[in-house]
Amino acid sequence: MSEIRYDGKVAIVTGAGAGLGKTYAVELAKRGAKVVVNDLGGSRDGQGASSKAADLVVDEIKAAGGEAAANYDSVATREGGESIIKTAVDAFGKVDILINNAGILRDKSIVKMSQEEWKLVLDVHLQGAFYVTQPAFALMKENAYGRIVNTASGAGLYGNFGQINYASAKMGLVGMMHSVNTEGAKYNIKCNTIAPIAASRLTEDVMPPEVFSKLDPRFVTPLVMYLVSEEVEDANMIFNCAAGWFSRTAIVCGTGTFIGDGKRDIAVEEIKEAWGKITGMEETKELNHVNDSFAYLSKVFQ
Ligand code: NAI
Repeated sequence: MSEIRYDGKVAIVTGAGAGLGKTYAVELAKRGAKVVVNDLGGSRDGQGASSKAADLVVDEIKAAGGEAAANYDSVATREGGESIIKTAVDAFGKVDILINNAGILRDKSIVKMSQEEWKLVLDVHLQGAFYVTQPAFALMKENAYGRIVNTASGAGLYGNFGQINYASAKMGLVGMMHSVNTEGAKYNIKCNTIAPIAASRLTEDVMPPEVFSKLDPRFVTPLVMYLVSEEVEDANMIFNCAAGWFSRTAIVCGTGTFIGDGKRDIAVEEIKEAWGKITGMEETKELNHVNDSFAYLSKVFQ
C-alpha cells in the first residue's frame, strides 16, 4: 500500500480543539499537511470561548514536528468564516482541504425548543459550514483543487428524539454537499459527508459506558483522511463510520408509477390505489442532479 500523504497541502479543520476534529488535525499534520486548527473553545452547548483548546492541539502538532496555526473564531458568523480562511492564507498561502466539523448540542423536544436553541444550533452547524465553505470554495476554484468533508449525523439521516434543530441542520449539510459538487466538479473540488458515531463530550451522557468506551474517535479518522486525499475519486457520498464500521448511505429514487396522461386531473383515490407502487423501493437509482428526475417524467414529454 502506498502511503497517503498531504505534503504541500493546506488544511482547515473547524472545531479541531477536541473530539473528532482533533484527530483529523493531528493526522493531517503527521502526514505532511499544514493545518489550521480552528476552535472557539466554548462549552458543549455553545457558551463561552477560549483559545486553549486550539492552542493545545497546535502545540501537540508542532511538538511532533508538524506545521499548524491556531484560529479561535466561531464558524457561526460570516466574519468568523472569513477570518478562518485568512488565518490559512496568511500562514500558509492557500486552502486545499476543509473539514466542516465544529459542533454543539442544544437538545429539546419539539414543543419545548426555544427560538434561541433552534437558531444557535443552525448557526453553528449549517450557517457555520456555509460561512467557512464559501470563501474556501473561492480559493479552491482559483487553484482548481479542493477536498471538503461535511459532518452530518445519524440524527439527521435517520432521526433521534429531542434533536429537531440538530437533525435539520445536519440534513442541510447534505444539501450543501450536493451544491458544492455540482458547482465544484469542473474545478476538481470534491465534497463528501460523514455521519460518525464517536465518544466525545457530545455523546458522553447519551451512551452507556460500555458502548462509549468502544467508540474512540480515532476509528473515524482514516475514512475522513481518505476523503480529503488526492487519491479519492468519489464525491457526493454519505458515509456511516463508527468503531471501525464503514458503510455508505444514499438518497435513492424509486421507479414509482405514472398516473394520468399529463393532461387530465388526478384523483386523490388514484393515489391511494397506487400507494404500493408509489412507495415501492424494489428498483432504485441514485440521482446526481435534480434534472435527472425529469427522466421519470418522460411519458408526458414524449
Ligand atoms: P466535540 O464537542 O468533542 O468537538 C466539537 C468541537 O467544536 C469542540 O472542540 C468545540 O469547541 C468546537 N466548536 C463548537 N462550536 C464552535 C464554533 N461555533 N466555532 C468553532 N468551533 C466550535 O464533539 P465531536 O463529537 O468531536 O463532534 C464533531 C462533529 O461530529 C460535530 O459536528 C458533531 O455534531 C458531529 N457528530 C458527532 C457524533 C458523535 O457521536 N460524537 C455523532 C454525529 C455527528
